Amino acid sequence: MRTESILLTGGLGFIGSHTAVALKNHFKQIVIIDDLSNSVMNNYYRLKSLVGDCLILYKADIASQNVIDKIFLSHNIKAVIHYAGLKAVGESIIFPAKYYYKNVYSTKLLFEVLKKNKITNLIFSSSATVYGKPLYLAIDESHPVKAINPYGQNKIDIEQMIFNDPYFQEQCSVKILRYFNPIGAHPSGLIGDDPKGIPNNIMPIILKVATQEHQELKIFGNDYQTHDGTGIRDYIHIMDLVEGHVKALDYNKKGIIVFNLGTGKGFSVLDLINTFQEVNKVKIPYSFVERRSGDVDMVFANPDRAKTTLGFEALRSLQSMCFDAWNFVKKK
Ligand code: UD1
Repeated sequence: MRTESILLTGGLGFIGSHTAVALKNHFKQIVIIDDLSNSVMNNYYRLKSLVGDCLILYKADIASQNVIDKIFLSHNIKAVIHYAGLKAVGESIIFPAKYYYKNVYSTKLLFEVLKKNKITNLIFSSSATVYGKPLYLAIDESHPVKAINPYGQNKIDIEQMIFNDPYFQEQCSVKILRYFNPIGAHPSGLIGDDPKGIPNNIMPIILKVATQEHQELKIFGNDYQTHDGTGIRDYIHIMDLVEGHVKALDYNKKGIIVFNLGTGKGFSVLDLINTFQEVNKVKIPYSFVERRSGDVDMVFANPDRAKTTLGFEALRSLQSMCFDAWNFVKKK
């Protein structure tokens, strides 16, 4: 009989919700705390239909001490995955103080609660954005970190908070996961990437063009040093990404360890559009515009550490990412 539960902060978001499905049979209860700042209740009902009664939602901010205390009193929480945070890069440049408060300060409060409750298995949801402009490719975990925007700095600050804390160093197993570009959706089409407001990342924008809510995709730059002039990224299927989380949770060695979660392969914006059109038989009109400030030619992971240490490898294809992403939108 399973007696242990897990807490997912920000568990109604894109990555958290897919993780909840992947953890369905691993814990007695999957407890989510989410303030719905980038989600809606309908996402919870859909998730509940996939996960079932073991899914429990607390609608609150992670800085709500009374709610957090109640969660630890009411559930036998043994592991925590910390996703909650704001993630719009552009917004972080306009409102850096808000980003610092919601991402860094709130995490500090959360970590105090984790220590009080002697949580020893923690995953922190970081991002490949911490690497800034790549100094070499493929990017391994030893690549220096350098933020190019406040959002990236928030992720670095939180990583540093973990590295510098004797409790995490000596008594815990902390896994810092640096994601490359997660896209796709659960094959049921019930959950997927559903950002509130105007999306920033490429796949949600392609989907809006596919549904004709947006007229066309504006491709940021066609003069990069790549095979077709458009930017190259390491797209990883969300279902692969969450399998990486499951493996990281099971890896219980003491200490703090960083893992890249990516495929190790790069695809350009035009590769992505062409694949999406071919697989889904939908036209994606586009035009070229100026480069976006802060963008780089090419980013892709060296995923070896996750493979050798966790036995994790992201194998789903770009075709499958495009198919599942569109399937989610068609079923909405
Ligand atoms: C962006 C963020 C990064 C964040 C990551 C995941 C910036 C500068 N970087 O990275 O900090 O960690 O998202 O949330 O915002 N593209 C277009 N047209 C669009 C949108 C994107 O051509 O309308 C291109 C981009 O130039 C890039 C690729 O598509 O080449 C992927 O873009 P995106 O999904 O925003 O991810 P990143 O640029 O990797």
